[in-house]
Amino acid sequence: MVGKQEPSLLAGGKFYGIGVGPGDPELLTLKAYRTLERVEVLCVPKSSTDKESLALAVVSKVLPREFVQLELHFPMSRDHSVLQRSWAEAGEKVAGEVMAGRQVAFLTIGDPMLYSTYGYVLRYLKKNYPSLETETIPGVVAFSACAAYQQVPLVEGEESLAVVPAVYGVEKLRDILLCFDSVVLMKVNRCFPLVFALLRELGLEKRAVYVSRCGYPDQYITGDLESLLDRDLDYMSMIIVRKAGES
Ligand SMILES: C[S@@+](CC[C@H](N)C(=O)[O-])C[C@H]1O[C@@H](n2cnc3c(N)ncnc32)[C@H](O)[C@@H]1O
Repeated sequence: MVGKQEPSLLAGGKFYGIGVGPGDPELLTLKAYRTLERVEVLCVPKSSTDKESLALAVVSKVLPREFVQLELHFPMSRDHSVLQRSWAEAGEKVAGEVMAGRQVAFLTIGDPMLYSTYGYVLRYLKKNYPSLETETIPGVVAFSACAAYQQVPLVEGEESLAVVPAVYGVEKLRDILLCFDSVVLMKVNRCFPLVFALLRELGLEKRAVYVSRCGYPDQYITGDLESLLDRDLDYMSMIIVRKAGES
C-alpha cells in the first residue's frame, strides 16, 4: 500500500470512530447519537470472542434502525504480524466504503482512544489514505463510569492515577501499585487470582473494589475480592485500587 497513489474519492464519505460509553445507553452522547442517525455503514468487528458487538447492543437500545454492516475480522492473536494484517484488511475495507462516498462508523465501548482496535484501523487509514476524512467522537470511559456509580472520586488534589491492563505482568503491576495513589486495573477477568495475591501481599486488598458490567442491569460491585476467587469473571470488569481516603 505504501507509496501507492491514492484512488479518487467520492464526495461525502467519512469514517467515524464513535465511543458509546460503558454500557448504559443513557451515557451515549448526543453527538454520538446524532452521528449514528446519519451514518450508512456500521463496522461490525468479529473476533473469536465477539465482545465488540456489545457496543452495537448499546446503540440498538436507543436507536433501533438498520445499518449496512461491514464485517471486520480481528483475530485474538499475540502475533504482531497477524494483527497487523487484520488491521490492514480492515482498513482497506473501510477505505473502499468511504471512497465510494459512504459514511462509516466504528463503534467502541467506552472511548475510542482507550484500548480499542479502532486506533489501529485509524492509524492505517491516516498512513495509507491521508486524504480520507475521519472524525473521532469521544465516549464516557468505563473507569470513570465505575467511579461515578460507586460515588467515590478516583483521584483528588495532587494524587496520581495509573490505568493499566491487569495482564501486564506481576512485577510491573507491583511497581505501579507502589508508585501511584490510585490504579485502575482493566481486563482483570483473565488474571484475577494473580492480581488478588499481589494486592494481598501489598496490603491493598481492602483498598480495592471490583466492578463488573457497570451500567448494565446486572452490574456488580464488591469490596470483598476474596469472594471472587472461585468465580468465572466477566470480561467487562475492572478493579479500582484507591490508596488515599477512607476505606
Ligand atoms: C478493550 S477495553 C475497552 C476500554 C474502553 N474503550 C473504555 O474507554 O473504557 C475493555 C475493558 O474495559 C473495561 N470495561 C469496559 N466496559 C466496562 C463496564 N461496563 N464495566 C466494567 N468494566 C468495563 C473492562 O476492564 C474491560 O476488560
